[in-house]
Amino acid sequence: MNDILKQFLLTNSGYFRKLTDLRAKGWQTTEGDRFFEKRRNQSDNADERQARAFFAMTCMIGDELDEVTSVLMLAGTGTNAPWALDMGMAPGGFTSAFLRRHPTGTVRGISLPPEAGGLRIMIPRWQSDRRIQLIFLDVTLLADEMGVPAATISPAHADSANFSSQRPFLDEQFHIIFCGAAVQRTHSRAAYRDSCERLRLTTSQLVVALQRICDGGSLVVLLHKPEAWENIELIRTFTQFSNVYLFKPQRKHAIRSSFYMVATKVRPRHADALLALSTWKASWQAATFRNDDAREPSFHVPEDRIHSLLETFGPQFIALATPIWKTQAAALQGASFLKTAREPAEQNVIDGKGKSTQQ
Ligand SMILES: C[S@@+](CC[C@H](N)C(=O)[O-])C[C@H]1O[C@@H](n2cnc3c(N)ncnc32)[C@H](O)[C@@H]1O
Repeated sequence: MNDILKQFLLTNSGYFRKLTDLRAKGWQTTEGDRFFEKRRNQSDNADERQARAFFAMTCMIGDELDEVTSVLMLAGTGTNAPWALDMGMAPGGFTSAFLRRHPTGTVRGISLPPEAGGLRIMIPRWQSDRRIQLIFLDVTLLADEMGVPAATISPAHADSANFSSQRPFLDEQFHIIFCGAAVQRTHSRAAYRDSCERLRLTTSQLVVALQRICDGGSLVVLLHKPEAWENIELIRTFTQFSNVYLFKPQRKHAIRSSFYMVATKVRPRHADALLALSTWKASWQAATFRNDDAREPSFHVPEDRIHSLLETFGPQFIALATPIWKTQAAALQGASFLKTAREPAEQNVIDGKGKSTQQ
């Protein structure tokens, strides 16, 4: 993490300081490693029962998301049959939560093929449900969508046989779009993708989403660590053409750094939205066509840009991110693998204004 950014957050957010302490403690315990290793193994080798349990969990996350933000319930207000696009759809929790609220709604889905390491759809009888239409594909390989015609890509590229010129659901307009795909460890992919797959996945979904969302529609985007520089920039970008809220389930995955950016009243034709679209395409192209050394300059962030963003957006960002840090810190503090470790020196956390707040 960039030093300027880290220092700014440590100085101005007691919750971020607390979370940083707890994470440091977690890294020191072998129990912590074992805990996460066990979870990874379970999700990589899920049997039928565990796959069902994971589906139930994603349904619960969809319900909690709506309890807190109403983003599902309000989709397509005024229409009696709203349209949703669900990327990274499997196992199907968000789709189920959406259709339960809008029984006459329509869902288009995109998900990684199970034979390539993607999850299975667990929604009962989804194949015969006329409200659901799903395409299995790798959303990071939609070259034409990302501004590079697949036909022009060199046959020497490691993914040359896999790029697609498809532009799924391009002629449809959606009231709500989920960008919920997450990198799968079971997904066998070319080595060049190892260092930048999360960025390729996020940018691909955002490009697809912004070109299909209707004016005033909503986006739900899965992200990790609000404090990552690229996330701060992304959240700031969305504040320029939508209303932004950050959501983290309290009941599930609280211990992880994952969270959702919920953007409502999105204006996809706003000048800043169009600029963002070209920036995401350029990032995807750098991550897909340049090797690690060559892409470095594209991802370099000059210090003055960091200072300037923190000056203008820092306090608002901390206000948005605090509930996420607070939830993760509380979950970490209650984790069995930290229970045995020493308690943090400060039970009281000092907030940015120097006040002491009981956690
Ligand atoms: C955490 S799950 C999403 C859960 C889903 N939102 C729900 O409500 O059930 C992540 C999903 O992303 C999919 N995925 C991962 N990489 C992908 C890719 N490159 N293209 C499309 N889907 C992808 C996985 O197969 C998996 O279905």
